[in-house]
Amino acid sequence: MTLTIAILASHGGSNAQAIIDACARGTIDARVAGLISNNSSSLALERARKAGIPAMHMSSVTHGESLDAAMCKQLQALDIELVALAGYMKQLGPAMLGAFEGRIVNIHPALLPRHGGRGMFGSRVHEAVLAAGDQRSGATVHLVDSGYDTGAQLAQAEVPVLPDDTVETLAARVLEVEHRLYPETIGKIARGEIVI
Ligand code: GRF
Repeated sequence: MTLTIAILASHGGSNAQAIIDACARGTIDARVAGLISNNSSSLALERARKAGIPAMHMSSVTHGESLDAAMCKQLQALDIELVALAGYMKQLGPAMLGAFEGRIVNIHPALLPRHGGRGMFGSRVHEAVLAAGDQRSGATVHLVDSGYDTGAQLAQAEVPVLPDDTVETLAARVLEVEHRLYPETIGKIARGEIVI
């Protein structure tokens, strides 16, 4: 049975694109039934529109206090079985976390539990990896709970940290493995190889 997924993304959406492409190619038995962004000018929304996927701008500006319930209702109306956060910069509310408990995944650009937690996003993660002198980094796909990057880990992929790495070179190397790891992990969930 094809897994029906929704993607939540705030910015560029390159991970969203990797998932959309894997679905379109048939590499994974999943279908992206909708993409929600809190950012009306995000490239992620544009990528979804280009792929013919319903693209929805939903934020505290458009929905105020009812955002959490509205997102939940929208995703339930689309019969979403898995919610994939891909660079989604907002915390989910109790309605979303309750309705989709154990069925929300995220990708983090480091080897959790290292370099996760509140405030650890974007270049800050790679800065921390370099400052710690780590010899390897990578990406982690994990379940989402009410904490920051604390849900059960589902998959990881490693990359080396090279002596002359900058935040930019390391970020690019990690992002490349994210684009492989995230669709691959969703594919395993769709095939029942990873049980969530
Ligand atoms: C990725 O590095 C992901 O690990 C993190 O946010 C970034 C999103 O990048 N959660 P993109 O929008 O998918 O290009």
